[in-house]
Formats: sequence, C-alpha cells, structure tokens
Amino acid sequence: MSYSRHLIRFFRGSEELGHAESEPDLNIIDIAEIANVEIPTNCTSGTCGTCLVRLVSGSVDIPEELPPGLDSFLVEEGGILTCCMKPTGSCDIDVIPPI
Ligand code: FES
Repeated sequence: MSYSRHLIRFFRGSEELGHAESEPDLNIIDIAEIANVEIPTNCTSGTCGTCLVRLVSGSVDIPEELPPGLDSFLVEEGGILTCCMKPTGSCDIDVIPPI
C-alpha cells in the first residue's frame, strides 16, 4: 500500500516555526526535527509529558490506552505527545502545551 504524506506545520501561537512532510516511520518529534523546530524531550517513551504540545487541527494516532504522560483531560484540550505519536493526516501543531 502506498503511503500518502501529510504536511505537518509547527506554530508558536500564530507564528509558524516551520513545516515538514510526514514519513510512515516518523513520530511527530522526528518531523519537528526535520522542520528545524525544537520541542523538548526527556523520556521519549510517552511517560514524562515533556514533549507535550497542542494539536490545533488535523489528526494524530492517539492510542486508546493513553501513555502515562497524557490523560483524557489533556487529550480534550488537544494535548499530544510528540515523542511517541504519528500523524494520520495533515496537522497544525502549537508547540505551546495546552496547560
Ligand atoms: S519525552 Fe517523555 S513523554 Fe515524550
């Protein structure tokens, strides 16, 4: 099956910091790196919440069983963990976390 790439754009508030295309194996943090956008990380395994950002629009593969670094309140606020999640469509992402 062919993979359709998605355009991932990174913002800080209304300022666009950069953008890059998705690749099947890349988590959002890797796409941010390609776009030269710095998002802090620590555990890189979904536990600490350091890499939390806010999904403004688009879709991301959020596992039904949330990783320890995320809870349903944060998900409702658009929270996603960039170290362990992949986009499933084109996304606009604000690097400022929801809380
Ligand atoms: S870096 Fe720890 S949850 Fe992503």
